[in-house]
Amino acid sequence: MSLQDKIAVVTGGSRGLGAAIAKAYAKEGAHVAIVYASPSSTQSAETVKKEIEELGRKAILIQTDLVKPECGEVVLRETLKGFNTETIDILVSNAGIYKENHTLEFDAELFDRTMAINVRAPASLVKSIAPVMPRGGRIVVISSMAATWASPTMDIYSASKAAVNAMMKCWAVSLGKSHGITANAINPGFFPTDINAHFSDELLEKFKNMQAIGHRLADTDDLTGLAVFLASEQSRWITGETVECSGGSSLG
Ligand SMILES: NC(=O)c1ccc[n+]([C@@H]2O[C@H](COP(=O)([O-])OP(=O)(O)OC[C@H]3O[C@@H](n4cnc5c(N)ncnc54)[C@H](OP(=O)(O)O)[C@@H]3O)[C@@H](O)[C@H]2O)c1
Repeated sequence: MSLQDKIAVVTGGSRGLGAAIAKAYAKEGAHVAIVYASPSSTQSAETVKKEIEELGRKAILIQTDLVKPECGEVVLRETLKGFNTETIDILVSNAGIYKENHTLEFDAELFDRTMAINVRAPASLVKSIAPVMPRGGRIVVISSMAATWASPTMDIYSASKAAVNAMMKCWAVSLGKSHGITANAINPGFFPTDINAHFSDELLEKFKNMQAIGHRLADTDDLTGLAVFLASEQSRWITGETVECSGGSSLG
């Protein structure tokens, strides 16, 4: 198994893409700390934990709101305590929010909240966790195709994802040199999860038509292989990269 006995932190591991990544990592032998915030997600987080434990791996739940500036320290402390370890091998910064906001109805409060969760939290997590990563540590950012793709209602979200990708490149340089850590990002295209559950059938059809590979909606398993690879030893010479995982949706 490619992640045998690695300790991984997956933010937003209670649902959607994060839950799929957490389980895929456990299948590859990792122990996983699942970070989430909402009391309403406790049951699904417990289910993910149980599924990981059924694979013979350890899992812990860390319920904390990543909007808090000090969230990195909380996740660090709880992970080290929960696994009785001094090191963390893999950080998947996946938790994120998306709310539609038309350019001419710019919402400053939404801007601040989106930036806090999608940009500041990853920075806080990296600041706290990178120092306890052994050489060969891995940072995987789940960003978005929206970082490079324009939509009339995505100004804020797109800006947050472009920003986190820019930070990821800087981490690749700063932490690569000092700690031997790689940092890479995945830009997912459209995956049906709770974040976009309100999208119309018409829009889903549009996403199906945009793809170069097959006329279907993506499944979380279409992304987990890449997330495993970027966390594994096999990706050791790849850093500062952003890989789009969208079935070729942005090819035109
Ligand atoms: N699905 C897509 O089509 C798509 C496309 C491109 C990029 N992405 C990105 O992929 C990532 C995962 O998205 P998803 O589709 O899986 O979304 P999702 O199903 O809505 O899950 C979001 C996850 O993030 C967590 N989260 C949100 N705000 C948080 C906070 N303040 N503190 C702690 N945890 C928080 C949620 O925790 P709770 O359960 O506690 O709320 C949940 O686990 C996001 O960064 C998203 O931008 C998704």
